[in-house]
Amino acid sequence: MSRIAYVNGQYVPHALAQVHIEDRGYQFADGVYEVCLVVDGKYWDLDGHLARLKRSLDELQIAMPMSENALRVVMDNVRKRNHLPSAMIYIQVTRGVAPRNHIFPVGLKPSLVMTVKPFDLDQSDAKAAKGIRVITQPDIRWGRTDIKSTGLLANAMAKHAASEVGAGEALLIRDGHITECSSSNAWIIDKDGVLITHPKSHEILSGITRETAKACAQELQLNVVERPFTLDEVKAASEMFLTSASSVVMPVIGVDSFKIGDGTPGPITKRLRESYKARARAL
Ligand code: PDD
Repeated sequence: MSRIAYVNGQYVPHALAQVHIEDRGYQFADGVYEVCLVVDGKYWDLDGHLARLKRSLDELQIAMPMSENALRVVMDNVRKRNHLPSAMIYIQVTRGVAPRNHIFPVGLKPSLVMTVKPFDLDQSDAKAAKGIRVITQPDIRWGRTDIKSTGLLANAMAKHAASEVGAGEALLIRDGHITECSSSNAWIIDKDGVLITHPKSHEILSGITRETAKACAQELQLNVVERPFTLDEVKAASEMFLTSASSVVMPVIGVDSFKIGDGTPGPITKRLRESYKARARAL
Protein backbone atom coordinates (compact mmCIF):
# COMPACT_ATOMS: atom_id res chain seq x y z
CA MET A 1 0.00 0.00 0.00
CA SER A 2 1.52 3.35 -0.99
CA ARG A 3 2.15 6.03 1.61
CA ILE A 4 0.27 9.30 1.25
CA ALA A 5 1.63 12.70 2.24
CA TYR A 6 -0.09 16.07 2.44
CA VAL A 7 1.62 18.94 0.61
CA ASN A 8 0.08 22.40 0.35
CA GLY A 9 -3.55 21.39 -0.13
CA GLN A 10 -3.03 18.04 -1.83
CA TYR A 11 -2.81 14.42 -0.75
CA VAL A 12 -0.08 12.89 -2.89
CA PRO A 13 1.86 9.61 -3.03
CA HIS A 14 4.79 9.96 -0.60
CA ALA A 15 7.33 9.16 -3.32
CA LEU A 16 6.08 12.05 -5.45
CA ALA A 17 5.63 14.62 -2.65
CA GLN A 18 7.76 17.72 -3.23
CA VAL A 19 8.23 21.41 -2.48
CA HIS A 20 10.06 24.07 -4.51
CA ILE A 21 13.89 24.37 -4.30
CA GLU A 22 13.49 27.94 -3.07
CA ASP A 23 11.32 26.97 -0.15
CA ARG A 24 12.86 28.84 2.77
CA GLY A 25 12.74 25.69 4.86
CA TYR A 26 15.24 24.15 2.45
CA GLN A 27 17.53 27.20 2.22
CA PHE A 28 17.38 28.68 5.74
CA ALA A 29 15.67 26.05 7.95
CA ASP A 30 13.11 28.86 8.13
CA GLY A 31 10.29 26.77 9.50
CA VAL A 32 8.97 24.79 12.42
CA TYR A 33 7.51 21.36 13.00
CA GLU A 34 5.53 19.21 15.40
CA VAL A 35 5.44 15.48 16.01
CA CYS A 36 2.14 14.19 17.41
CA LEU A 37 1.26 10.73 18.60
CA VAL A 38 -2.04 8.99 17.91
CA VAL A 39 -2.78 5.60 19.46
CA ASP A 40 -5.82 3.58 18.37
CA GLY A 41 -7.35 6.66 16.80
CA LYS A 42 -6.87 8.77 19.96
CA TYR A 43 -4.56 11.79 19.84
CA TRP A 44 -2.28 12.16 22.84
CA ASP A 45 -1.76 15.77 24.03
CA LEU A 46 -2.92 17.22 20.69
CA ASP A 47 -4.08 20.56 22.14
CA GLY A 48 -0.60 21.10 23.59
CA HIS A 49 1.15 20.26 20.32
CA LEU A 50 -1.05 22.61 18.30
CA ALA A 51 -0.60 25.40 20.86
CA ARG A 52 3.19 24.96 20.65
CA LEU A 53 3.05 24.97 16.84
CA LYS A 54 1.27 28.33 17.00
CA ARG A 55 3.79 29.66 19.53
CA SER A 56 6.81 28.58 17.42
CA LEU A 57 5.25 30.23 14.35
CA ASP A 58 4.46 33.42 16.27
CA GLU A 59 8.06 33.65 17.51
CA LEU A 60 9.22 33.59 13.87
CA GLN A 61 6.41 35.80 12.54
CA ILE A 62 5.10 33.05 10.29
CA ALA A 63 1.32 32.84 9.88
CA MET A 64 -0.61 29.68 10.78
CA PRO A 65 -1.16 28.03 7.37
CA MET A 66 -4.80 27.27 8.25
CA SER A 67 -7.05 27.31 11.30
CA GLU A 68 -6.33 24.90 14.12
CA ASN A 69 -9.54 23.03 13.38
CA ALA A 70 -8.62 22.68 9.72
CA LEU A 71 -5.19 21.35 10.75
CA ARG A 72 -6.91 18.70 12.87
CA VAL A 73 -9.02 17.64 9.87
CA VAL A 74 -5.96 17.36 7.60
CA MET A 75 -4.08 15.37 10.25
CA ASP A 76 -6.94 12.94 10.51
CA ASN A 77 -7.33 12.70 6.73
CA VAL A 78 -3.67 11.94 6.12
CA ARG A 79 -3.63 9.38 8.94
CA LYS A 80 -6.76 7.65 7.61
CA ARG A 81 -5.53 7.69 4.02
CA ASN A 82 -2.50 5.77 5.27
CA HIS A 83 -4.76 3.33 7.15
CA LEU A 84 -2.92 3.92 10.42
CA PRO A 85 -4.94 3.88 13.66
CA SER A 86 -1.66 4.34 15.58
CA ALA A 87 0.87 6.73 14.10
CA MET A 88 3.37 9.51 14.51
CA ILE A 89 2.19 12.54 12.56
CA TYR A 90 4.85 14.97 11.35
CA ILE A 91 3.66 18.52 10.62
CA GLN A 92 6.04 21.02 9.05
CA VAL A 93 5.32 24.67 8.31
CA THR A 94 7.88 26.84 6.57
CA ARG A 95 7.72 30.53 5.70
CA GLY A 96 7.15 29.62 2.05
CA VAL A 97 8.82 29.97 -1.34
CA ALA A 98 10.67 33.16 -2.38
CA PRO A 99 13.90 34.20 -4.15
CA ARG A 100 16.77 33.65 -1.70
CA ASN A 101 17.17 36.65 0.64
CA HIS A 102 17.91 36.61 4.35
CA ILE A 103 15.24 39.24 5.07
CA PHE A 104 11.77 37.80 5.70
CA PRO A 105 9.72 38.42 2.51
CA VAL A 106 6.34 40.05 3.18
CA GLY A 107 3.04 38.30 2.47
CA LEU A 108 4.38 34.81 1.70
CA LYS A 109 2.04 31.85 1.79
CA PRO A 110 3.48 29.36 4.31
CA SER A 111 4.18 25.81 3.08
CA LEU A 112 2.45 23.02 4.98
CA VAL A 113 3.57 19.41 4.77
CA MET A 114 2.35 16.41 6.76
CA THR A 115 3.60 12.84 6.78
CA VAL A 116 2.71 9.89 8.97
CA LYS A 117 4.51 6.75 10.00
CA PRO A 118 3.30 3.73 11.97
CA PHE A 119 3.61 3.69 15.75
CA ASP A 120 3.45 0.50 17.81
CA LEU A 121 2.85 1.07 21.53
CA ASP A 122 3.67 -2.57 22.35
CA GLN A 123 7.08 -2.17 20.70
CA SER A 124 7.62 1.05 22.63
CA ASP A 125 6.65 -0.73 25.87
CA ALA A 126 9.11 -3.53 25.08
CA LYS A 127 11.87 -0.96 24.61
CA ALA A 128 10.88 0.79 27.84
CA ALA A 129 10.96 -2.52 29.71
CA LYS A 130 14.67 -2.75 28.92
CA GLY A 131 15.48 0.97 29.11
CA ILE A 132 18.04 2.77 26.98
CA ARG A 133 21.60 3.96 27.36
CA VAL A 134 22.62 7.51 26.50
CA ILE A 135 25.90 9.32 25.96
CA THR A 136 26.83 12.89 26.86
CA GLN A 137 27.49 15.44 24.13
CA PRO A 138 28.17 19.19 24.20
CA ASP A 139 25.05 21.26 23.54
CA ILE A 140 26.19 23.28 20.52
CA ARG A 141 22.68 24.31 19.42
CA TRP A 142 21.51 27.89 18.90
CA GLY A 143 20.13 30.06 21.71
CA ARG A 144 16.40 29.62 20.95
CA THR A 145 15.83 25.91 21.29
CA ASP A 146 12.39 26.73 22.76
CA ILE A 147 11.31 27.27 19.14
CA LYS A 148 10.68 23.89 17.48
CA SER A 149 12.70 24.87 14.44
CA THR A 150 13.52 22.49 11.59
CA GLY A 151 17.17 23.59 12.04
CA LEU A 152 18.17 20.33 13.70
CA LEU A 153 21.72 19.75 12.46
CA ALA A 154 23.30 20.00 15.94
CA ASN A 155 20.60 17.65 17.30
CA ALA A 156 21.21 15.23 14.42
CA MET A 157 24.99 15.29 15.03
CA ALA A 158 24.52 14.50 18.71
CA LYS A 159 22.03 11.69 18.04
CA HIS A 160 24.26 10.26 15.32
CA ALA A 161 27.22 10.21 17.75
CA ALA A 162 25.00 8.28 20.18
CA SER A 163 23.93 5.78 17.54
CA GLU A 164 27.55 5.17 16.52
CA VAL A 165 28.24 3.69 19.96
CA GLY A 166 24.90 1.87 20.19
CA ALA A 167 23.28 4.41 22.55
CA GLY A 168 19.67 5.56 22.14
CA GLU A 169 20.02 9.28 22.91
CA ALA A 170 22.51 12.07 23.50
CA LEU A 171 22.35 13.97 26.78
CA LEU A 172 23.33 17.56 26.06
CA ILE A 173 25.55 19.61 28.37
CA ARG A 174 25.82 23.40 28.26
CA ASP A 175 27.73 25.59 30.74
CA GLY A 176 28.17 22.71 33.17
CA HIS A 177 24.53 21.60 33.31
CA ILE A 178 22.28 19.21 31.44
CA THR A 179 19.81 20.97 29.18
CA GLU A 180 17.89 18.10 27.53
CA CYS A 181 18.49 15.39 24.92
CA SER A 182 18.73 15.62 21.14
CA SER A 183 15.01 14.88 20.69
CA SER A 184 13.60 14.51 24.21
CA ASN A 185 13.55 16.14 27.64
CA ALA A 186 15.78 14.71 30.38
CA TRP A 187 14.77 13.96 33.98
CA ILE A 188 16.54 12.47 36.99
CA ILE A 189 15.12 11.14 40.25
CA ASP A 190 17.32 11.77 43.26
CA LYS A 191 17.83 9.51 46.29
CA ASP A 192 14.88 11.19 48.04
CA GLY A 193 12.53 10.40 45.15
CA VAL A 194 12.42 14.00 43.88
CA LEU A 195 12.00 14.37 40.10
CA ILE A 196 14.31 17.03 38.64
CA THR A 197 14.16 18.49 35.13
CA HIS A 198 15.49 21.66 33.48
CA PRO A 199 13.06 24.60 33.78
CA LYS A 200 11.34 26.11 30.75
CA SER A 201 13.72 28.59 29.13
CA HIS A 202 15.29 29.43 25.78
CA GLU A 203 17.75 26.54 26.44
CA ILE A 204 15.26 23.68 26.03
CA LEU A 205 12.25 22.74 23.99
CA SER A 206 9.37 22.81 26.39
CA GLY A 207 8.09 19.29 25.81
CA ILE A 208 4.38 18.63 25.68
CA THR A 209 5.05 15.16 27.11
CA ARG A 210 7.09 16.86 29.87
CA GLU A 211 4.03 18.90 30.88
CA THR A 212 1.76 15.87 31.00
CA ALA A 213 4.42 13.88 32.87
CA LYS A 214 4.46 16.68 35.46
CA ALA A 215 0.69 16.36 35.90
CA CYS A 216 1.02 12.56 36.23
CA ALA A 217 3.77 13.00 38.83
CA GLN A 218 1.48 15.28 40.81
CA GLU A 219 -1.29 12.69 40.67
CA LEU A 220 1.19 10.14 41.99
CA GLN A 221 2.11 12.62 44.75
CA LEU A 222 5.70 12.85 43.59
CA ASN A 223 7.71 16.02 44.04
CA VAL A 224 8.89 17.73 40.85
CA VAL A 225 11.58 20.40 40.96
CA GLU A 226 12.41 22.35 37.80
CA ARG A 227 16.03 23.42 37.94
CA PRO A 228 19.22 22.79 35.95
CA PHE A 229 21.15 19.72 37.15
CA THR A 230 24.72 18.53 36.60
CA LEU A 231 26.36 15.36 35.30
CA ASP A 232 27.49 14.61 38.88
CA GLU A 233 23.84 14.66 39.93
CA VAL A 234 23.02 12.32 37.05
CA LYS A 235 25.71 9.91 38.26
CA ALA A 236 24.27 10.01 41.79
CA ALA A 237 20.63 9.69 40.65
CA SER A 238 18.60 6.63 41.57
CA GLU A 239 16.59 6.80 38.33
CA MET A 240 16.62 8.66 35.06
CA PHE A 241 14.15 8.94 32.18
CA LEU A 242 13.37 10.89 29.04
CA THR A 243 10.08 12.25 27.76
CA SER A 244 8.94 12.92 24.18
CA ALA A 245 5.92 12.25 22.02
CA SER A 246 7.66 9.33 20.33
CA SER A 247 9.23 7.74 23.43
CA VAL A 248 6.48 8.71 25.96
CA VAL A 249 8.35 8.08 29.27
CA MET A 250 11.55 6.17 28.50
CA PRO A 251 13.79 4.81 31.29
CA VAL A 252 17.53 5.48 31.03
CA ILE A 253 19.71 2.72 32.51
CA GLY A 254 23.16 4.08 31.75
CA VAL A 255 25.00 7.26 30.82
CA ASP A 256 28.38 7.00 29.06
CA SER A 257 30.17 4.20 30.93
CA PHE A 258 28.25 4.36 34.24
CA LYS A 259 25.00 2.77 35.39
CA ILE A 260 21.97 4.65 36.66
CA GLY A 261 20.77 3.03 39.90
CA ASP A 262 21.12 -0.73 39.53
CA GLY A 263 21.22 -0.49 35.74
CA THR A 264 17.58 -1.42 35.17
CA PRO A 265 14.47 0.77 34.66
CA GLY A 266 13.51 2.36 37.98
CA PRO A 267 10.19 1.72 39.79
CA ILE A 268 9.07 5.37 39.86
CA THR A 269 9.79 5.75 36.15
CA LYS A 270 7.73 2.62 35.42
CA ARG A 271 4.79 3.96 37.45
CA LEU A 272 5.01 7.28 35.67
CA ARG A 273 4.94 5.63 32.24
CA GLU A 274 1.90 3.56 33.18
CA SER A 275 0.16 6.60 34.63
CA TYR A 276 0.91 8.57 31.44
CA LYS A 277 -0.62 5.90 29.23
CA ALA A 278 -3.69 5.60 31.44
CA ARG A 279 -4.19 9.37 31.42
CA ALA A 280 -3.79 9.60 27.63
CA ARG A 281 -6.27 6.78 27.09
CA ALA A 282 -8.82 8.33 29.43
CA LEU A 283 -8.82 11.75 27.70
N1 PDD B 1 11.12 15.62 19.60
N2 PDD B 1 13.42 18.29 23.22
C1 PDD B 1 13.70 18.22 21.91
C2 PDD B 1 14.98 18.80 21.43
C3 PDD B 1 12.80 17.59 21.03
O1 PDD B 1 13.06 17.53 19.72
C4 PDD B 1 11.61 17.01 21.55
C5 PDD B 1 10.60 16.35 20.65
C6 PDD B 1 11.36 17.12 22.93
C7 PDD B 1 10.11 16.55 23.56
O2 PDD B 1 8.97 17.27 23.16
P1 PDD B 1 7.54 16.57 23.11
O3 PDD B 1 7.34 15.96 24.45
O4 PDD B 1 6.62 17.69 22.88
O5 PDD B 1 7.57 15.56 22.01
C8 PDD B 1 12.28 17.77 23.73
C9 PDD B 1 10.24 15.09 18.61
C10 PDD B 1 9.47 13.92 19.07
C11 PDD B 1 11.06 14.82 17.36
O6 PDD B 1 11.90 15.65 17.03
O7 PDD B 1 10.83 13.81 16.72
